[in-house]
Amino acid sequence: MLSCKIQCFTILNIVIIVMARNNSKNYTFPKDFIFGAATSAYQIEGAWNVDGKGQSIWDTFTHTHPDRISDGSNGDDAAKSYFKYKEDVRALKEMGMQFYRFSISWSRIMPQGLPNNINQKGIDYYNRLIDEVINNGLKPVVTMFHWDLPQYLQDLGGFASDVIIIYFEAYAEVLFENFGDRVHMWTTINEPYNHAFGYEVMTLAPGLNTTGVGIYLAAHNMIKAHARVYHLYDKHYRAKQKGKISLNLSVQWSVPEHKNSTDDKEATKAELEFTLGWYAHPIYSKEGDYPQIMKDRIRNLSLAEGFPTSRLPSFTSEEIVYVKGTADYFALNQYGSYLIAKGDTGANPSYFRDKGTLIEPDNWPKSETSTWESVTPKGIRNIIKWIKEQYGEELEILITENGFADNGELNDIIRINYLATYMIEVLKAIHFDKCKVIGYTVWSLIDNLEWSNGYSSKFGLYHVDFNDPDRKRTPKQSAHFMRNVTETRQIPYNYGIIDRELDEEEGL
Ligand code: NOJ
Repeated sequence: MLSCKIQCFTILNIVIIVMARNNSKNYTFPKDFIFGAATSAYQIEGAWNVDGKGQSIWDTFTHTHPDRISDGSNGDDAAKSYFKYKEDVRALKEMGMQFYRFSISWSRIMPQGLPNNINQKGIDYYNRLIDEVINNGLKPVVTMFHWDLPQYLQDLGGFASDVIIIYFEAYAEVLFENFGDRVHMWTTINEPYNHAFGYEVMTLAPGLNTTGVGIYLAAHNMIKAHARVYHLYDKHYRAKQKGKISLNLSVQWSVPEHKNSTDDKEATKAELEFTLGWYAHPIYSKEGDYPQIMKDRIRNLSLAEGFPTSRLPSFTSEEIVYVKGTADYFALNQYGSYLIAKGDTGANPSYFRDKGTLIEPDNWPKSETSTWESVTPKGIRNIIKWIKEQYGEELEILITENGFADNGELNDIIRINYLATYMIEVLKAIHFDKCKVIGYTVWSLIDNLEWSNGYSSKFGLYHVDFNDPDRKRTPKQSAHFMRNVTETRQIPYNYGIIDRELDEEEGL
């Protein structure tokens, strides 16, 4: 059933479309702009203990804590893509996509995460997948780590320990050696922000309650591990393999709750720095290192709490230089926006208290199956502009995730509306704001396991029947819509308009 908010949103869009029809222009995606769809290993592959795969923290987490997954499910079988990957690739081809973004399961390649035990069957699987992608005229965009850490490495401390850095580098080396001849777009770590949350909240693996401490250690070591892999590629592989490397950073756009409140405006800035800036500033800014506001706030609070030093680890001056510039493009995952006010919340100590911001209730249309997703297309344009302003206009941005969660309807008109209106904002960022957005990725290619929301929150362009042992895939209306977009390289008029004058009238 459509919620009232969604209905109002749709009606508002139609009104805007009709109003602007006469003087609207339908911009085209640039010639070399690429479209794709994304998945990740744990969310789709299944085959959790097949062909020598080791156990990952998501295997452990879902098996030992089914209570922390809304429907008690797990990824043991998921969408069975380990067996049905050819159908997945066919789906991308049917939609006229140019690339497939997927991730590699570390524990399928290295059962313990260690370089002394390499599982050839795991290598064989990804060779088959990569070849299938290429033979269908698509490019692989490969994420090395999408949260499914080998359990053995978690037992050594996971990303909270810097031991992880050498093992992550050793893993990346195996990937470059085996797949780098055919993979030219890499991301090292998907959404370090959300993986670090596994050290702050109980609903994401590893599910540790180390608030205000573990989260910063994990983040710090992820940044350093990423940089290490970037330098490894630079030194030994780039000249021959000629690829590009980045990491996927996620962010919700932030809007001050009270437009004229200085406090809320400052809180909004802080929110962006504590989410995106935390990871992006050390890598993309001219000066490197964490945002000043994070360093100041966390240090002051830590000392007041009785810690001898800041809970936020610090980079040495050599490390600042080493980390700076370690990305060839900006891989952006973007879904929604938050309404922000100044204020204190959360345990003491905790990341939430450190931020000094509150996420306030808003009236934006929402996904019915996701607690955090709002339909706020202007946010994607604003964040793209923000990235350009902060980190330079030459920086290329690949949107590596954007998508909408619902109950899995085949006639997914709300998803189409979401994708259309977001892509229109991307077109505005390209044509009006002159931002270098080079491609767009829908999350997700197929319905899959949405982490602690289990299978109750569906993002797929293709429906997967999870009651069918064969996991039948069926294209949703949104898959046909995407086919239309990739063919025409435009957003059909009936889904929205692009009109500079109208935007200016709205004060954008
Ligand atoms: C973030 C993650 O990268 C992906 O795994 C997740 O399913 C989607 N966004 C939707 O929440």
